[in-house]
Amino acid sequence: MQGKSRETFSSGLAVFFATLGSAVGLGNIWKFPYLTGENGGGAFLLVYFLCILLVGIPVMLCEFYAGRKTRKNAFGAYQQIKPGPVWKHIGTMGVGSAYFIMFFYSCVAGWVYYYLFKALKGDFIGVTLETAKAQFGATVVGPYSPIIWQVIVLIVVCAIVAAGVQKGIEKMTKTLMPVLFLLILICDLRAITLPGASEGLQFLFHVDFSKLTAPVILTALGLAFFKLSLGMGTMTTYASYFTHDNNLFRTAAKVATADTLVSLLAGIAIFPTVFSFGMEPGAGPGLLFMTIPLVFSQMPLGNLLLIAFFFLTSIAATTAMLSLVEVPVAYFVEEKGYTRRSAAILTGIIILAFGVLASLSADKSSLLGHITFGGKGFFDWFDYLSSNIMLPLGGLMIAVLIGYSVSKADIEKEFSNGGTLHQEGIITLFFFVIRYVTPALLIIVFLNSIGIIR
Ligand code: PFF
Repeated sequence: MQGKSRETFSSGLAVFFATLGSAVGLGNIWKFPYLTGENGGGAFLLVYFLCILLVGIPVMLCEFYAGRKTRKNAFGAYQQIKPGPVWKHIGTMGVGSAYFIMFFYSCVAGWVYYYLFKALKGDFIGVTLETAKAQFGATVVGPYSPIIWQVIVLIVVCAIVAAGVQKGIEKMTKTLMPVLFLLILICDLRAITLPGASEGLQFLFHVDFSKLTAPVILTALGLAFFKLSLGMGTMTTYASYFTHDNNLFRTAAKVATADTLVSLLAGIAIFPTVFSFGMEPGAGPGLLFMTIPLVFSQMPLGNLLLIAFFFLTSIAATTAMLSLVEVPVAYFVEEKGYTRRSAAILTGIIILAFGVLASLSADKSSLLGHITFGGKGFFDWFDYLSSNIMLPLGGLMIAVLIGYSVSKADIEKEFSNGGTLHQEGIITLFFFVIRYVTPALLIIVFLNSIGIIR
């Protein structure tokens, strides 16, 4: 940053919670369960794990390297690693992807905040499958309430980001992540004791390879990127605030493991309920909003737990959004000379301008739901373009850049914290994977998705 000393997180624990706060979000609780449901359960899960291992963790490590080494925002970091007209655009594209994700993410986060409000009012007491479906339909179609809640979400997120790295992001994530974990466990206990729960668990864990088609594999790959906040400079930006003695390998492994665990726990809370109440596992984006009120409806203190659940989902969504907003904010502050506050306000306004389109097109009967391009409306396009195209493309560029432009000696120096950690074996493995395995897999899945190879 221009001459001024740059803020960092205050400790290793703060690094872990902030990074996990970025990874854990609506992706785990909303997207992971419904994509697993739509794509056949266990087989999808298996491909997803492989994507995390062979693509996700290596790209995360590349981003950690770029951020901590340069201590710059996504644009500045890649420009420093390889000056010239091309590679800095990993950062430009990252800022673009952050916006695209925020357009629809802020809309779904708005639904979650609204559900919390409704739970507080007692709207879900005595809910049945029919009324749960009707309430979700009314929430999504609006047209005013989804936009009002989207605005509220954006005000909360931008205010925290404006407060700074330690006072805003670190303080929020460190307090709230452990509570989130505990509450999902309580939901799980309830879900697996429902009658018929085993059918749901079987759906989640039964592996049927006939379900694996090229689009399913691309979806799993896109989900891995989305889940671990990769391919768009988020982890690069966060790593620029990491402490100098952080063990990057260990942080990546811990974050990927904890994040996957939260996704599985969310799946374990949702699928037994789906089967117990005779719902469709492939119900799409509404799955979470229709199942969770049902899980708690018929138990003592159910409404209290429902409030807690939506409170925690709001937290997960909020902490993930902090990291999304931080990408353009760090860019505007460090590259364009904005103050943190005005950068946060500007970012919020841009997100709202386009995010409204997502809110008004989330369902076929929404105000703009009839406007489609190639079968997808605004909401679906924002989601598809960012998760399935921009993030994997960004990830490919990051892996190629770090794998081929940075010397092994430089990698060794950064990952060993200047020689204080001894990790020669794992560094050699990492170097091999990002040079050959990760790019090859990304290219094959891409070519396949656009129909060039089958
Ligand atoms: N990882 C977040 C989730 O799973 O909800 C979403 C996300 C956050 C994606 C930050 C990308 C990102 F840069």
